[in-house]
Amino acid sequence: MSFNQWLSQRIEKTKQAGLYRELRTMSTAPQPKMIVNGTQQIVFSSNNYLGIANDPIVMEKALKTLEEFGMGSSGSRLTTGNTEWHEMLENRIASFKRKEAALLFSSGYLANIGVLSSLPEKGDVLLSDQLNHASIIDGCRLSKAETVIYKHSDMSNLEEKLIETQTYTRRFIVTDGVFSMDGSIAPLDDIMKLSERYDAYVIVDDAHATGVLGERGRGTSELFGVSPDVVIGTLSKAVGVEGGFVTGSRVLIDFLINHARTFIFQTSLPPVSCGAAYAAFDIIEKRQELRERLHRQINVIKGTLESMGFTVYGQGTPIIPVIIGDTEKSVRFSKKLEENGIYAPAIRPPTVPEGESRIRLTVTATHNDSHIEHLLASFEEIGRELEII
Ligand SMILES: Cc1ncc(COP(=O)(O)O)c(C=O)c1O
Repeated sequence: MSFNQWLSQRIEKTKQAGLYRELRTMSTAPQPKMIVNGTQQIVFSSNNYLGIANDPIVMEKALKTLEEFGMGSSGSRLTTGNTEWHEMLENRIASFKRKEAALLFSSGYLANIGVLSSLPEKGDVLLSDQLNHASIIDGCRLSKAETVIYKHSDMSNLEEKLIETQTYTRRFIVTDGVFSMDGSIAPLDDIMKLSERYDAYVIVDDAHATGVLGERGRGTSELFGVSPDVVIGTLSKAVGVEGGFVTGSRVLIDFLINHARTFIFQTSLPPVSCGAAYAAFDIIEKRQELRERLHRQINVIKGTLESMGFTVYGQGTPIIPVIIGDTEKSVRFSKKLEENGIYAPAIRPPTVPEGESRIRLTVTATHNDSHIEHLLASFEEIGRELEII
């Protein structure tokens, strides 16, 4: 069998299982209305939660940095790729997150891999939430420590696992701050209490919480008034740019500079991204009205869909998953939404558990009332047609 025949057979199996994925082409900037595959759609699947990706102040800063520093950074941070913009942004992120220091990575994915593959040692154990993001799962796989999974946000199960793992040298609890497919928030206050009682360290991936949760958008730490040992984040969601970061103590950052392979062996972020992200943090901190508007939209959408009879997950975050159940029906639902001018993809196994296929809506501060009214009316119509409500 030829190489391509072998791959085609495997793809065919994916298709038969209804799990085939295809790319869509966006022909416009990330706004609520975009041209998707040639047709205009109201997009309810963007991570640009505060609309910063094309904010004029951020774009102006990007252009200025681009003129000064050019496009690529030309090397890893430890060779020629460390500019003043990288250091300024790290200081900005550290002060925003109320931590001693921060370190940039090329993406949130690589930040998770870098931390989890370098920090725990052989003889340690990682206690990982069942619904953690793929980058945490992959980081655990690359770690020399063992991994034990606890039930999603189930504190008595986590406590049981902490008791069972007392013979390990060190325990690390690792969790998403906001779970990317469920929109739920990790009970960080309880996790911190358990970590103190059982002498464990806590690592939180605040990818979807940064800019969104807490009064100033500092994330789950601000929301719960706690300070985990390691807080990871991305610049690609509410910050509206690209890149990842880790925050914590100065010694943690020194350690990662010396041991995190995804930091050491990677070309650094382009300075233009650092300049843009720097400006974005000012918006996040100062423009509270964007966050307030976002949370109003979340409440309207979730509340209305629930009152229509839909099962809606999520806990006051911009991720609003509407459970359809059957995979094929979810895909049909998403197609019908698209025919109505709404882009909201179906999320299927293995990304979510079998029988829990869903339409994963995300809302942004830039959606207006008429976008939301159209979304809700379409959900009601399609929900009745497919006998979901
Ligand atoms: C929880 C979580 N962590 C990490 C990432 C990866 O971040 P990035 O897109 O910056 O690689 C994502 C999403 O992409 C995510 O949802």
